[in-house]
Amino acid sequence: MKGASILITRKIPEAGLEVLRASGADLTILQEDEQQGVPRTLLLDGVRNCDVVLSLLTESLDREVLSVNPRLAGVATMAVGFNNIDVAAATDLGVPVTNTPGVLTQSTADLTWALILAVARRLPEAHNYMAGGLYRIWGPNLFLGADVSPGGSGQRKVLGVIGYGRIGQEVAKRAIGFDMDVLAYDPFYQDGVEASPHARWAELKDLLQTSDFVTLHPLLTPETHHLIGMEQLRMMKPTSYLINTSRGPVVDERELVRALSEGWIAGAGLDVFEDEPQMAPGLAELPNAVLLPHIASASRDTRGMMANIAATNALAHLRREPAPNVVNPEVYEADAYRERMRGAD
Ligand code: DGY
Repeated sequence: MKGASILITRKIPEAGLEVLRASGADLTILQEDEQQGVPRTLLLDGVRNCDVVLSLLTESLDREVLSVNPRLAGVATMAVGFNNIDVAAATDLGVPVTNTPGVLTQSTADLTWALILAVARRLPEAHNYMAGGLYRIWGPNLFLGADVSPGGSGQRKVLGVIGYGRIGQEVAKRAIGFDMDVLAYDPFYQDGVEASPHARWAELKDLLQTSDFVTLHPLLTPETHHLIGMEQLRMMKPTSYLINTSRGPVVDERELVRALSEGWIAGAGLDVFEDEPQMAPGLAELPNAVLLPHIASASRDTRGMMANIAATNALAHLRREPAPNVVNPEVYEADAYRERMRGAD
């Protein structure tokens, strides 16, 4: 594909770059510094001058960005979530958009469980205590936390899964090993929940009132923005925990800080934040919040696979072929797409 150009907004793992290099296309990486984002003007210029964009979840590909290049043959994001891309605008403009579903399901479910255990058993606090040289003597009251499995009391705990797509299901499956009862709520997939061997359907209110651990796995959409706000946090038990590995804006983070500091709930494990990399004031100081820098899919193998899939999707866009993992398949029937393809010939 000599002469064709792919814009990579920020550096991706080698497994993806190799696939792209082998295609012979010209590659431009807009931002080589892995600690920096892409300035808007640079992004607009880059998109204007390429055939395909391979982006990360850190770039906002809104209507303005998608409109600057009538030749743009597609956008491939290296993530399963695509709330940073205005997909409706992309469809209007005839631009196919792809993501990387499937390969990160297991890693994300594992990390969700790492957060459940870490917050319930207070692992970061205990680690800091050890690293700080504070451990003097074993104590019967030292770092008491909550059981995840029935533990000494023999009482089964309830896991509430909100959003029962691939990741939610995988999280639910892992609860078998902890002898938990699992409730799930997903208004787009009630049939799937009811057919699942790993969960029982619950309305949102019941799930919040009953669960010992509430874990969030919906896509971020206008409907799920602040799905968990003051009202919902108030419904949860003071002994329960909230886990979020989906997208930050699903939770009203300022209300969560209140809930954690005033004891409406016992703790939270968060991998995502409303306004990354910022956190709501007060969150970082709370001992009952376990905070991670959006690393749910960050295993070497998984990130390599995500890069590989994003690269494969990008090459399909470049060849003007229907791409695997397209999130707006209707685009291929749209006049705007046909015109765009004609323009590119
Ligand atoms: C995604 O893919 O959407 C995650 O948030 C990053 O892996």
